[in-house]
Amino acid sequence: MALTQTTLNIRGTFCIETIPKPASFIIFGASGDLTHRKLIPSLFFLYQKALLSEHFYIHGCARTQMDDEKFRASFFDKLKESLGKSSDTKASGNTVKSFLNRCFYIAGDYNSENLYINIKNRLVELDKKFQKEKNHIFYLATPPSLYIPIVQHLGKSGLSDTPPNAGAFRRPHGERGRTCIIVEKPFGRDLESARKLDSELKKVSKEEQIYRIDHYLGKETVQNILLFRFANSIFEPIWNRRYIDNIQITVAELLGVEHRAGYFEQAGLLRDMFQNHMLQMLSLVAMEPPISFDANRVRDEKVKLLRAITPIQPHEIRDRVIRAQYGKGTIEGREVPAYRDEKGVAPDSTVETYVAMKLSIDNWRWQGVPFYLRAGKRLAKKSSKIVITFKNVPHSMFQPLRPEDLEPNILIFHVQPEEGISLRILAKRPGPKLCMDTLEMVFRYSDVIEGELPDAYERLLLDCMLGDQTLFIRNDDMEVSWSLITPIAEVFEDKSKASLAGTLHIYPAGSWGPVATEELLQKDGRSWVRI
Ligand code: BG6
Repeated sequence: MALTQTTLNIRGTFCIETIPKPASFIIFGASGDLTHRKLIPSLFFLYQKALLSEHFYIHGCARTQMDDEKFRASFFDKLKESLGKSSDTKASGNTVKSFLNRCFYIAGDYNSENLYINIKNRLVELDKKFQKEKNHIFYLATPPSLYIPIVQHLGKSGLSDTPPNAGAFRRPHGERGRTCIIVEKPFGRDLESARKLDSELKKVSKEEQIYRIDHYLGKETVQNILLFRFANSIFEPIWNRRYIDNIQITVAELLGVEHRAGYFEQAGLLRDMFQNHMLQMLSLVAMEPPISFDANRVRDEKVKLLRAITPIQPHEIRDRVIRAQYGKGTIEGREVPAYRDEKGVAPDSTVETYVAMKLSIDNWRWQGVPFYLRAGKRLAKKSSKIVITFKNVPHSMFQPLRPEDLEPNILIFHVQPEEGISLRILAKRPGPKLCMDTLEMVFRYSDVIEGELPDAYERLLLDCMLGDQTLFIRNDDMEVSWSLITPIAEVFEDKSKASLAGTLHIYPAGSWGPVATEELLQKDGRSWVRI
């Protein structure tokens, strides 16, 4: 079977299935958490679903000393388990083994030239054996402080070189030697550092070769926003200020800072969640229709939307942005410590673990429609949702009920944990009397799809192998989002600007955040929709 061919299958619905060209993944940070939890399992599932070219291989690099066998062994049990208890043990063991036989490892110091010389020699060997096309995808999954040194070494060693015509993967047959670099978030910690990283990347590769990842873009429901809005005719006419009252985006997590205090103390929740996931979801929900489903046309519209967001000025932060930190509390019946008592966190840390803000979009479609965004750790439940509240009916024929007494229609994109879409409408309750009730029409992926939905990384890694950048962040997008977030982050951490930043609220772990968040909406005569 020619696995490298692109196939288009139309089965009742329009369905594009593609098998990428041969490629190898060279993962920096291969002994780390991301590689173990996401990258290798996602590549394995692609392999298992026959969505990887048969000519792939994976090459890990990290500081930890180990050989190929030990590297493989570190994944074996988890991958086998992921195939499910019901599957034939011998067969699943063989599938895992044949996948892991394509995995290799080299240990070394990221700052030493030797590591890159060794990698280069190893890739020559492996390319000969597995893929003569020499398509290499470098994945930066190390701590972010290592990104620039690694990129510089990729350039110096010639590893990032590409033949003059091999810019993108989606190329006529015969072209070879494409390289690209996937950069895990965080992409910088402010506008300046993001630009610096970008300029180093641009010294060794072109924009078409740089894949800035935001895993939220690979989530099923997030991708579905585009289809929902632009593949159906009934929503677009009402997707504007005439019909929509407000939009709320929530990412609530149960987890605390876990073992990432070192990173989180430097980042804080605003940088960690808003510059990327929150603004990405906002841009998909609010952007204008792109003229085609082409990476750059979609990304043009996202950037245009981000540019239309009215930047929050320092003197407006107190009124429009709420920052808070979790105190001790109870999560799922278990006592959990306050953020300041977590391992690696300074006892007097003022780093925020929760942010809520009100944004406005200064364009024709959204003038006057508030966008309320909130995200936080150690909240009452894990729940990420985009909630669109429509305006009240203009007139009520159901006297004595007034228009404002009738609950508005609410459309919810359920991003996680239960992916789907729901619509709240008012309807008659069956019976002899005229009673009105809120009815929820619910679509759940779990009702129509057997088994678990693919992890966001599966989609994104596949897209990278296909050379499709639609779900990756372009440089201008990254710059606009940082320019919106950086001034707020700077006020948050500059002690001399404490009066501009407002109070750092403390909320009990396991709650819905500080009361001030309710007030942010109450001032506008609104409230958070219960999710
Ligand atoms: C990451 C953040 O990007 O997203 C984490 O760095 C956060 O702090 C995570 O926990 C949330 O992702 P998900 O997919 O679990 O919602």
